[in-house]
Amino acid sequence: MLSEVPDLPGIGWTEPTGEAGAARWHSESGLPAPKRVIVADDRMKADKAYRLACEGTALLWRGDYQGARQLLKALGRRLDRLAPKPGSTPAETFHRHRQARGHRARVLGMLLVVLEEDHALDLRRAPDVREACAQAYGPAQGRTVVSLRELLGVIGAHEWRKKGVEMPAAGGRIHPHYGVFSPIRGEYVDLVAEAPLPAPARLTTGTAFDLGTGTGVLAAVLAHRGLGRVVATDSSPRALACARDNVARLGLTGRVEVVDDGALYPPGRAALVVCNPPWLPARPTSAVEQGVYDPDSAMLKAFLAGLADHLEPAGEGWLIISDLAEHLGLRTRQELLDAFGTAGLRVVDRHDARPRHPRASDPGDPLHTARAAEVTSLWRLAPA
Ligand SMILES: C[S@@+](CC[C@H](N)C(=O)[O-])C[C@H]1O[C@@H](n2cnc3c(N)ncnc32)[C@H](O)[C@@H]1O
Repeated sequence: MLSEVPDLPGIGWTEPTGEAGAARWHSESGLPAPKRVIVADDRMKADKAYRLACEGTALLWRGDYQGARQLLKALGRRLDRLAPKPGSTPAETFHRHRQARGHRARVLGMLLVVLEEDHALDLRRAPDVREACAQAYGPAQGRTVVSLRELLGVIGAHEWRKKGVEMPAAGGRIHPHYGVFSPIRGEYVDLVAEAPLPAPARLTTGTAFDLGTGTGVLAAVLAHRGLGRVVATDSSPRALACARDNVARLGLTGRVEVVDDGALYPPGRAALVVCNPPWLPARPTSAVEQGVYDPDSAMLKAFLAGLADHLEPAGEGWLIISDLAEHLGLRTRQELLDAFGTAGLRVVDRHDARPRHPRASDPGDPLHTARAAEVTSLWRLAPA
């Protein structure tokens, strides 16, 4: 498991005056500090910057903030020309796509900026990023170098957190925090809002567990549906803080309890156990990806293995998962069904939804075919 705030060594460079410069280094992807760093400004041409970045030389930006953003876009355009060819199988296409994304992240990650002691970005025309950085990184711990690309993600996440996402089924807006899986694809939320509740969950005393709660959206949906008590867990400290924040904003603090003892299942049994694990069995390359990739389907398997022992009589487990992994050749439908059987579970019913997200219809996406065919399902499971 990647640590949320990698504690990495510092980064050094030589100023144009010949003096030595140094700062802390931070990378959410756990990338090591670049070994070669040069100071660059608006005089740096995009072709030269691209060549240097591809060779592993990082550019510590001292020019205009907007100029740095333009340079990042110019580097991105050069990388776009390297779009990988489709593989002979969907799994190979996916593998090539991830390799290309990794290369892109490494090259774009070579444009660096210094965050000052208070997280301020001391560049011409730079926005005030102190609040966004404090939210994502916590209190400042001294001058820190980060990639501009990462910082733009931090700024974008700050805007989403302020604005929130309207979720009528959860009783209001959900405010995602940096690094927490955001419910922008509402179809799976609707599945949880609409599937028929098992009998013991219809009682006002009914208890539900929400495993891997993320923003807390599904816990809020269940409370909104009348469950008397919902207990939510997650392995990510950022998700736990985010879920607590949303639960409080929605006025559900007494009914939704966010526990952080590190276990997937809370103690005891529930009438309903909901789990929306990361949908793709692959290794995450950053904390942000932990909501999307589940290495070796570890969370899925742990959910299934523990379910029968955590259900009350006549209770159900709801697995929310899309078949994208099947379209990408990363898992077969039979493997999923076998995993249910191995855990001593039977399928009570299945409810399907087609994605409404815009990427589903973007033919430029190398995974377009798989995404276009994707179906998200809510599997209602019970002990066999
Ligand atoms: C796909 S996201 C779902 C988030 C939220 N339930 C939702 O539906 O929007 C998966 C969540 O599971 C969490 N997670 C991943 N592995 C986990 C594990 N082994 N134990 C607990 N939570 C885990 C991630 O941090 C993430 O918040």
